[in-house]
This record gives sequence, C-alpha cells and structure tokens, in this order.
Amino acid sequence: MPDAIGFDIYGTLVDPLEMNERLEPLAGDLSVSLAALWREKQLEYTFRRGLMRDYEDFDSCTRRALVFAADALGVKLSEQERDRLIEEYQSLSPFPDVIPGIEALKERGHPLVAFSNGVETTVRTLLVRAGVLPHLQDVISVDDLKTFKPDPEVYRYLARRLGAEPSRIWLVSSNPFDVIGAKAVGLKAAWVQRNPEARFDPWDVEPDLVAPDLQTLAEKI
Ligand code: LAC
Repeated sequence: MPDAIGFDIYGTLVDPLEMNERLEPLAGDLSVSLAALWREKQLEYTFRRGLMRDYEDFDSCTRRALVFAADALGVKLSEQERDRLIEEYQSLSPFPDVIPGIEALKERGHPLVAFSNGVETTVRTLLVRAGVLPHLQDVISVDDLKTFKPDPEVYRYLARRLGAEPSRIWLVSSNPFDVIGAKAVGLKAAWVQRNPEARFDPWDVEPDLVAPDLQTLAEKI
C-alpha cells in the first residue's frame, strides 16, 4: 500500500494571502500588509492557545487576528465588514497545481486527506467551493483534539485516523512549523516551497522532500 498523505490546507492548497484582494476596497494600499499580518497573528494565536491550553477554535483565532491586524494598521472595519471577510475566507481559490497534483498522487494509489487546524465544517465548505473536496478521501481536523499544530498529538491523531504507522504517512505543507512538527513524531514530511524566497527554520531538521508545487511533488514523492 503506498504511503498515505495528509495535506495542510492554508498556504498549501489555498492561499490565505489572497484575502488582500477582498481587503483592497476597505484597506487600499494597506491590503497586502493587512492580509499578511492577519495570517501571522492567526497562527500566533493558535500557538499561544495551544501553549496556554486555553482552546478556542481556528475560526475564533481567525476572527480575533483580523480585529488585531486591522486595528494595528489603523483600518476601520464594521462588524458587518468583518463578518463578510470571515465568510469570504471560505472562498479562497486553490493553487493551480492542486487538483492535477492530487489526481496524479491518487492515480498512484496514495490515500489522500486534508489535515488542518481549521474547524471541519468550515474547511469542508472551503474545499467544496474550491472544487478540491471530491478529490480527497476525508478531512481530518485537529479541532477534534481541542489543540493545534504543532502539538505532537495532532500528528499521532492523523496516523490513528489513517490507520497507519507514522512512518507510512506523509505530511505535505507549505508551513515549516507543520513539517517540523510532523517529523518530530516520525512522519515523513514534504515542504511545499510556494515562494522561492520562503526560508525553512534552522531547526536541525530537514524536510524529506522539497517541491515548489504539488505537481512537482507528485513526480518526486
Ligand atoms: C492549517 C494551517 C496551519 O491548515 O495552515 O492547518
């Protein structure tokens, strides 16, 4: 049986920074910085909630991060504008290589799932709208455990749900912290280096594979 593969969602299958286009009418020239700070804070909130063991789900981290980022950059958003942006966060488009890459991996017999910090119903909506869900076998959310990546438990949970030894599972992610987290509990991990300027953390851990997109990854894995 070929190794099972869990795909990270945000940054790997869809681009959260694409929100800058939705932010543009509200934030003008600040939209790119606002989208980046929003994403940065969203992840920081997950790390902090995990360490504090004070869980609030990913939707809540996303909302609070938007409030922080808009305020920090002096962009005024009404409650309705915030609600609309949060709703639009479920309409991100897939990177163009995602469906062909997934299909190539499926042809080779790999069981394929999405594996995310996101709340399952939210990411299912996102993946349906992006046209990706029918290409995957399942969606596995760390929300089931009330903690976040890179808590080692979430990667063990992925292995349990897939019914395979950690060493027979690949985590595919553009987020270096996710790759390092998966490798720490014995999974194999591929880093999707979507931006050639992205850097991997100096952690004395290397990804098992680096690829610029999922089609290249499908050829190399
Ligand atoms: C996810 C975040 C980490 O999809 O991007 O899990």
